[in-house]
Amino acid sequence: MTTLPPRSRSPLPRFPANFLWGVSTSAHQIEGAAAEDGRGKSSWDLFSALPGKIKDGSSASVAVDHYHRYPEDVALLKELGVGGYRFSVSWSRVLPEGAGPINKAGLDFYDRLVDSVCEAGVRPVPTLFHWDTPLALEEKGGWLERDTAHRFAEYVEVVAERLGDRVGRWITLNEPAELTMLGHALGEHAPGKQLLFDALPVAHHQLLAHGLAVQVLRSRGSGSLGIANSHGPTWPASDSEEDRGAADFYDVLLNRLFADPILLGEYPEGIAEMLPGPVAEDLELISQPLDWYGMNFYQPTRVGAPNPAVSAEFAGITVPPEMPFSVHPVEGVPRTAFDWAVVPEALTELLVSFRDRYGDRLPPVVITENGCSYDGLDDQARIDYLDGHLRALHRAMDAGVDVRGYFVWSLMDNWEWAEGYRQRFGLVHIDYEGGTLDRTPKASFRWLQEALRAQR
Ligand code: FCB
Repeated sequence: MTTLPPRSRSPLPRFPANFLWGVSTSAHQIEGAAAEDGRGKSSWDLFSALPGKIKDGSSASVAVDHYHRYPEDVALLKELGVGGYRFSVSWSRVLPEGAGPINKAGLDFYDRLVDSVCEAGVRPVPTLFHWDTPLALEEKGGWLERDTAHRFAEYVEVVAERLGDRVGRWITLNEPAELTMLGHALGEHAPGKQLLFDALPVAHHQLLAHGLAVQVLRSRGSGSLGIANSHGPTWPASDSEEDRGAADFYDVLLNRLFADPILLGEYPEGIAEMLPGPVAEDLELISQPLDWYGMNFYQPTRVGAPNPAVSAEFAGITVPPEMPFSVHPVEGVPRTAFDWAVVPEALTELLVSFRDRYGDRLPPVVITENGCSYDGLDDQARIDYLDGHLRALHRAMDAGVDVRGYFVWSLMDNWEWAEGYRQRFGLVHIDYEGGTLDRTPKASFRWLQEALRAQR
């Protein structure tokens, strides 16, 4: 397969010399080798085996076989010219039961991966948890149980002990908001629970796990620490009081519920009372200072008062009628293959609004995920998306927001959770149809490679 050259466009503005450019992936979405070398099952193995949960009926048991083909993938990182590689460690590959005996072969895999990333001159940036809860813990209640946060801290100790000599930057958790909302409130993701507001303890226990992980890593002197939280501006569907109220409510759920405890040491009004455990004490752990704050950004959300007449579908997800809001389409903008709205200015807005809200409490920001799903090798639409978002990011920096890095989601096409293999987010194409899983750089890969060369 050959790739067409990207159409020319004006060069990107200049980013600071020490700006960290990277790409992101996650274990469950790329590794495969689900039953190999002693890996324990995770919540996603069980969920994807249930009929109807994954749109194309697939599972990630092979995914893109990164477990065996990682040397090729690391060579691609090097060819792309990024400074950082964000990947995640599968908890149940390291601790098959979630706690207790260590699976040496599993830990060895990450050891080899980190070595090879370092040899390629790229900095490894592991995420310690990207949604794949060990099934053994899930069966005991998973993130609804406080105990899971403590098991997580033990696991973090094991991983840091092995990789800490070569890893300078850690991400504790990926998007606790989505695991809470999609996994436990709405049931669209593993573990498929539909608890609506009874899912709130899941948010708190993940935040506690984050705090405990920071404590473990700090006590080991383990470098630079952050989290990858998903955030996006929430726009009211109209100026009416009802719509503005609903949008504020959604903003609390998506943004403030996860940023306020970390950055301000408090929950948004009315939330702490709904949470179990010694919340005030926990907040002290949760709000330990971070070296940087990671944000995953994809799109803004337009939100209105509950309204059965508005499309209740949002990125493939149905908002149940019990929810005190409705999600409206953002109109008049390009859309990705996943039907997500493409609105680069929303990234500037998001960053500036965080700076305004959190002031000095906001550490330097790293965009830990940003990207889009489009088919095809000649992916000019992805080039336009990335180009637009990088310019929007630069505008936020011009406005005084301290942003230190940007990671594209994703290095290569991969298993997109409930969508299966249907959504392609990669800079590198994977041949699923031919069954070879061959890697072919897309036009966007060549474009980014050039853009990074021009920044050096
Ligand atoms: C984010 C997830 C990531 C990927 C992208 C498209 O919410 O963190 O794993 O699925 O969306």
